[in-house]
Amino acid sequence: MSGLCRILGMGPGDPELITLKAVRLLAQADVVAWFAACGRPGHARVIADAHIPETAREVRFDYPFTTGVSVDDPRYLVEMTAFYDRCAQSLAEELDQGLQVALLCEGDPFLYGSAMYLFDRLSPGHRCEIVPGISGMSGCWSAAHLPMVHGDDVLSVLPATLDEESLSHWLSRGDAHVIMKLGRNFAKVRTVLHRCGRHEKAIYVERGTQAGQVCLPLDQAPEKAPYFSMVLVPGRRRVR
Ligand SMILES: C[S@@+](CC[C@H](N)C(=O)[O-])C[C@H]1O[C@@H](n2cnc3c(N)ncnc32)[C@H](O)[C@@H]1O
Repeated sequence: MSGLCRILGMGPGDPELITLKAVRLLAQADVVAWFAACGRPGHARVIADAHIPETAREVRFDYPFTTGVSVDDPRYLVEMTAFYDRCAQSLAEELDQGLQVALLCEGDPFLYGSAMYLFDRLSPGHRCEIVPGISGMSGCWSAAHLPMVHGDDVLSVLPATLDEESLSHWLSRGDAHVIMKLGRNFAKVRTVLHRCGRHEKAIYVERGTQAGQVCLPLDQAPEKAPYFSMVLVPGRRRVR
C-alpha cells in the first residue's frame, strides 16, 4: 500500500504560529524531509524543531545553489529540475514502502514553496495532503503592525527577481504590494520604488516573527538585505 505524503506549512518563523493540524500530523510521520541551503540549518526544520518525532528518520535536501546562479541562467532550470527529480524519487521510495512522509515548508507550501515541485512529481502516483501555513507576508505585516489592504484595494505579490521594467509595471498599478526574495535584488527594488513614488510608506521586514526580527521604514533599512526579508507597501488607508 502506498504511504501518504503530507506537505506541512510551518508558518513564518515563530514556532507558536505553526497550526495545530501541522503539529498533530508531524507527530505521525515516519520520515521528515526538508530543504536547506548548503551548510545552513533549513528554515522549516528550525521552526518545526520541538515537534519532530524522535522515531522519525530525517531527510535533508540541500539545494545545489540558492542565490549563486541566476534564474535566467540556463544552468538554473537544468540543475534545479534534476535536483527536484532526485528529491521526488527519494520520497517516492519511502512512500512505496507504505511510510508516512512529512515534507516541511516555511510559510505556506503553495506560495513560492519548493515543496510544490515535489507535489507536481509525486501527486500523480501517490497520496498527498497539503496543510496550509501562515504565510511569511502575513507574519511580516503583523510583526510590522501594518494594516495592508482595505475595501477595494488591490494587492500584488512580486518576486524581487523580476527585472526593473516588470517591477515598475506592477508597482505603478494596484494599491498594496509585497516584494519578496530581496537578497541581492534589494538595491534594484529600492530604485524602482523611488522611481514609482511608492517608497515613502514602504516598510522593510527582515526575519519577521523570528529572533532577530527587523522592521524599519524602507528609507532607514540597511544597505544590504538577506534573502529572508521583504518590502511591504500598504494600500489606501481610508477612514470609515
Ligand atoms: C521561497 S519564498 C517562500 C515563501 C513562503 N512559502 C511563504 O509562504 O512565505 C522565500 C521568501 O519568503 C519571504 N519570507 C518568508 N518568510 C519570511 C519572514 N518570516 N520574514 C521575511 N521574509 C520572509 C522572503 O522574501 C523570502 O525571500
